[in-house]
Amino acid sequence: MLEISERTRNLGTENAFVVLKEVNELVREGKDIVNFCIGQPDFDTPEYIKEAAIKAIREGKTGYTPSPGIPELREAVAEYFSKTRNIDVKPEWVVVANGAKPFIAYTILTVTDYGRGDEVLYPNPGFPIYESQIRANGAVPVPLPLHESKGYAFDVEYLEKRITDKTKLLILNSPHNPTGGVLDRDILEQIADIVKRHDNLWVLSDEIYSRMVYDGEFVSIASFPGMQERTIIVDGVSKTYAMTGWRIGFAANEKLAQHLSRWVTNTDSCAGHPNQYAALAALTGPQDDAKRMFMSFRERREIIVEGLNRINGIKCLRPGGAFYAWPNVTEACRMLNIGDSEEFRRRLLYEAGVAVLSDIHFGFKIKGEGEHIRLSYATSEENIREGLRRIEEYIEDNRVK
Ligand SMILES: Cc1ncc(COP(=O)(O)O)c(C=O)c1O
Repeated sequence: MLEISERTRNLGTENAFVVLKEVNELVREGKDIVNFCIGQPDFDTPEYIKEAAIKAIREGKTGYTPSPGIPELREAVAEYFSKTRNIDVKPEWVVVANGAKPFIAYTILTVTDYGRGDEVLYPNPGFPIYESQIRANGAVPVPLPLHESKGYAFDVEYLEKRITDKTKLLILNSPHNPTGGVLDRDILEQIADIVKRHDNLWVLSDEIYSRMVYDGEFVSIASFPGMQERTIIVDGVSKTYAMTGWRIGFAANEKLAQHLSRWVTNTDSCAGHPNQYAALAALTGPQDDAKRMFMSFRERREIIVEGLNRINGIKCLRPGGAFYAWPNVTEACRMLNIGDSEEFRRRLLYEAGVAVLSDIHFGFKIKGEGEHIRLSYATSEENIREGLRRIEEYIEDNRVK
């Protein structure tokens, strides 16, 4: 029999794509669905960025590039990281890849070995690819539960207790998908102090939403003394410049750059050549479009959070960043007499015409934290208002308690 490896059979996924398939089927059947599932800006890529890619294609910049990226982009990223993280990053420490996502696997591959019991700490709930890639690459996933009472940060003392001789990597993600939580300077400093007590502990800081912090400043853990050398800073153009399909992300670390680059050579060879010019234009060109999109997300945050909190049975913390709301729907589930957030999600999709994701799509349920769903507000104000109206009406019409 032609067999599929156990690793592949057990490979996780991003359930947003699975739910999206369900949504698309319903839409094809003619159903009207308000979609809050998609974690990508609903804006088009700004014109000056598209023009830069077209120009690059016309100039014949269509062959392979060096695996870590074109020198101009590595320089621009080094400058961007240095300025926004208040550190000194050299272009040689930067690697470009097809999105920020590949760096999750590359980093795990670079600092852990298969089947040796190497542990990786990661936020739960969290971007599902962390756990999936940790397992697929033969490391041991160790979830760090996030708590609503802490503004969706994890308990620093808990972190300290979970670090063992086998812990090789800590994954941080701030601003955070799916909660929108932001780790502030104080907690990052506490985390840095703990991490520094361990000689062989790397940090993967997934900062893909760094340009979407709505209150106060963005702080990278790499900016604390002694942290830059052990932190792999990851960011990209996907979210900031509405470029998810262009697939350009970047990472920086002095020691690991050469190794991450070899992983690029072993997988994709390099990131798309014209797309690298588009990313270069994005970082070095006028930032008005990025600012306009940011302002729009900030306004929508107010609308969605206020709207959710007006609905009976739903409570939502004000997310500090990214474009996700993570409301607590425990009471709504009770009112509807349904078991959990996943059943609530299904009922919203099939009976109310509203597509959301549930907490089980982002990891293990945490005891005592209740039921949550995720709504991406990277959708129009009109959609947000209509979606909230439908959810409210559905709860009112179907409540049994
Ligand atoms: C936390 C997090 N990291 C990484 C990514 C992937 O970004 P990219 O499109 O640059 O690969 C996403 C996308 O949803 C994300 O939410």
